[in-house]
Amino acid sequence: MNFQLTEEQLAVKEAARDFAQTELLPGVIERDNAQKFPAELAAKMGEMGFMGMMVDPKYGGGGMDSVSYVLAMEEISKVDASASVMMSVNNSLVCWGLEKYGTEEQKQKYLTKLSTGELIGAFCLSEPEAGSDATSQRTTAEDMGSFYLLNGNKNWITNGERASVYLVMAQTDREKGHKGINCLIVEKGMEGFVVGKKEDKMGIRGSDTHSLNFNDVKVPKENRIGEDGFGFKFAMNTLNGGRIGIAAQALGIAAGAVELAVQYSKERKSFGKPIHQHQGIAFKLAEMATKVEAARNLVYRAAWMKDEGMDYTQAAAMAKLYASEVAMEVSTEAVQVHGGYGFVKEYHVERLMRDAKITQIYEGTSEIQKIVISRTLTKD
Ligand code: CAA
Ligand code: FAD
Repeated sequence: MNFQLTEEQLAVKEAARDFAQTELLPGVIERDNAQKFPAELAAKMGEMGFMGMMVDPKYGGGGMDSVSYVLAMEEISKVDASASVMMSVNNSLVCWGLEKYGTEEQKQKYLTKLSTGELIGAFCLSEPEAGSDATSQRTTAEDMGSFYLLNGNKNWITNGERASVYLVMAQTDREKGHKGINCLIVEKGMEGFVVGKKEDKMGIRGSDTHSLNFNDVKVPKENRIGEDGFGFKFAMNTLNGGRIGIAAQALGIAAGAVELAVQYSKERKSFGKPIHQHQGIAFKLAEMATKVEAARNLVYRAAWMKDEGMDYTQAAAMAKLYASEVAMEVSTEAVQVHGGYGFVKEYHVERLMRDAKITQIYEGTSEIQKIVISRTLTKD
């Protein structure tokens, strides 16, 4: 067993930390208030190589392992979870899915630009009435011979406005249930495709979350990913990796909250001494740090298992379940350590607490992770 990061992994972690501190930290409060993440900053993340980290260099990516990816996700999420969700969707849901299951033509046309951040991608599974119950897709992709006729609505789509390339799950053959679902690559600008309303959210407010509407959109057959009916399996297999990315996001939020709480506890005095010298605060910090370390071990292990070619379904679900609960718990405690100052925006921890909540909801709620984990435990 080796817990040592390689030199390359440490260099990625350092570069991500540096980027987060110098480029993302200034302005993070203003972006949260304005509900905006500027295109120039997203472009910088592409230039830094954060948008296609694991993609083969022959398609423009960084060719890195998943451990490096989670290290970068962790560092960026300590500061700006809106930036990291954009990054996570592009890396682990869009680029990974296309590289693993796309045709060579699809890779040349889309992946080469997505992996550099020239284009941003979105992953579109959820619908107004199909969130956790993802097999109940209402969006239809009618087989018209040379193209699919796409109709329906998607909800809550991250990068909804910013993206140019959308991976859209839709039902082609209802009688076949989830085996009748396809994944289609839809481009912004296709006739009949409209980006709908933007959500006004509690957290990750810099991230653009939109509904999408498809009205008789003609999607060429060559834009289908995989065999006919592979769309649901595509979504599930891709989400297994996506959940490692969101687990790393949760870990970053939690670790960022601990760093801020420790620093503040050394600066703030009450009853004549720094507050960390009160046992009530010292024990709180100890528990917070211990939980973060346990989450970190689950997250790194899931990423390592993926790199080793092992089945990581259970490990990814466990990492997301635990890290997201730690993020919520620890960020709430970080606010407590800050007292009244924790309740105002200037001290950052209230944003971390608001951002933490979504990690228990998207890419499968905590309840869904428990379903996934329990099914791996009981299957023959
Ligand atoms: N990995 C691989 N395959 C999986 C899988 C997994 N984790 N989970 C399910 N499957 C497969 C099953 O094996 C089955 O395939 P077969 O019939 O070939 O065996 C098929 O999917 C259907 O599975 P079930 O019969 O278990 O279907 P179900 O309806 O009982 O439950 C579910 C499925 C696990 C609950 C699934 O619907 C699910 O994961 N729901 C959550 C949806 C989700 O995570 N959405 C995230 C949207 S993206 C997002 O949120 C991005 C973002 O915010 C940034
Ligand atoms: P529901 O499925 O209606 O669940 C409601 C509650 O019931 C939850 O607590 C849930 O855990 C519980 N529940 C449901 N079924 C069960 C069960 N069988 N057993 C126990 N409890 C259950 N989706 C995308 O496709 N792409 C994106 O990019 C994307 N980005 C998102 C960004 C944001 C900010 C948000 C808020 C959501 C995003 N989503 C995205 C959607 C997200 O994945 C769903 O919100 C999530 O899967 C839950 O679905 P739901 O909201 O319909 O809740």
